[in-house]
Amino acid sequence: MTENAGQLTGLYKEDVEHLLHPVTQLKNHFQQGPRILEKGEGIYVFDLDGKRYIDGLSGLWNVCIGHHRPEMAKAIQEQVEKLAFSPTFFGFSNIPAIKLADKLAGIVPDGLTKVHFTSGGAETNETNLKLARYYHKLIGKPNKTKIISRRKAYHGISMGAMSATGIETYWKMFEPMAPDFLHIAPPYCYRCELHLTYPSCNLACARQLQEVIDREGRDTVAAFIGELILGAGGVIVPPDDYWPLIQDICLREEVLLIIDEVITGFGRTGKWFCCEHYGLEPQMLSLAKAITSGYLPLGAAMIKDEIYSAMLERTPTGMPFMHGFTYSGHPVVCAASLCNLGIMEREDLVGNAARTGAYFQERLKELAHLPIVGEVRGKGLIAAVELVSDKSNRDPFTPPGSGGAAVAQRAYEMGMICRAAGDILALSPPLIITKQQVDDMVEILRQAIEDTVRELKK
Ligand SMILES: Cc1ncc(COP(=O)(O)O)c(C=O)c1O
Repeated sequence: MTENAGQLTGLYKEDVEHLLHPVTQLKNHFQQGPRILEKGEGIYVFDLDGKRYIDGLSGLWNVCIGHHRPEMAKAIQEQVEKLAFSPTFFGFSNIPAIKLADKLAGIVPDGLTKVHFTSGGAETNETNLKLARYYHKLIGKPNKTKIISRRKAYHGISMGAMSATGIETYWKMFEPMAPDFLHIAPPYCYRCELHLTYPSCNLACARQLQEVIDREGRDTVAAFIGELILGAGGVIVPPDDYWPLIQDICLREEVLLIIDEVITGFGRTGKWFCCEHYGLEPQMLSLAKAITSGYLPLGAAMIKDEIYSAMLERTPTGMPFMHGFTYSGHPVVCAASLCNLGIMEREDLVGNAARTGAYFQERLKELAHLPIVGEVRGKGLIAAVELVSDKSNRDPFTPPGSGGAAVAQRAYEMGMICRAAGDILALSPPLIITKQQVDDMVEILRQAIEDTVRELKK
């Protein structure tokens, strides 16, 4: 890759001159230019030189049915030819939006019967956070406005979602955060911030929820929002009894439980929704990403019937529900989602995520003995390999993130894309992946880690 922007030409030059990239080190990018991907096929993507890469993160955890599905192109084209856009404002509706709402109500955990469509994860969380406050106002508890979330959580970058996000780098330069957002400890057993050990900790991190509710007063807390497996924060999988305890506290304290399944929804963990692993019945569910496998942008805020009933019966007569996005219920996007869900069902991709996911976890565990691998964790087809400079005391690399960046770069050179969240390598391949392809991923990763270890010794 060209070393500085002065030498960049063509698309590389135009990119650095005009495109402001998300979550990208601007100076590095300006000097090195972009990695331009041109096409995709199955679990692979190809760059401008035709070099093939395993898409080890499914794009951004979303391309679950894999790349290049002609059926998706057809569904999208057919809907564009019929009706490219119509709003769902002012009581208007369209056929794909209605069909998709009905479909989703049938597959999500029990009781989540109503859906509000958005264009992605942040808008969806924003919607659910606002709906939580709306609901409490309607039922005569207007002071229940506070939102509790966790450090290490990622819920998106819009102002409310960012304020619920617990990864400091996402808000440091954009403060102040929205008021009334509080954070508790994450269930990160490998690096417990309370310096406790499971199970003798008695889930102290979850019990912090109770402590914060007690301290703030239950009549001031609207909702708790959380990802079942913290994704961008490092694919942190909680102990099995963590979520049931959180749900109990929420129910007892009349705090709405908003589950963010933006990454884990639609099969990623080997069940349609990760909620099913923990027997959860949240009042609100946030969905996006795999809902269309990324072919078009869509999110869905789903709410329980009791919330909708309050909205229906208690909203003052004549007052509309004053929330919504231009693209809420976009007909083309909803048609793409229906096609995507059809593919998932027909090809039993959730079953594949369970079966091949178990193999994936098993194979990745074989890397645990390598000298810089601190922990391997995950569920189904989502996993993390946490790198450390010293295994015995779990020391991170100096500077932080340098180990992760080195391994991810080496893997990229060998033909696999994965994400380094600091020194944690995140993996979430498309749900169509085969065992042979899992073997390929694990071998590239092993080689990339071994090469990095060798480099470090020099
Ligand atoms: C768990 C979770 N919630 C919300 C979001 C935000 O989604 P979006 O980028 O579509 O706004 C993400 C994005 O990665 C996510 O991982």
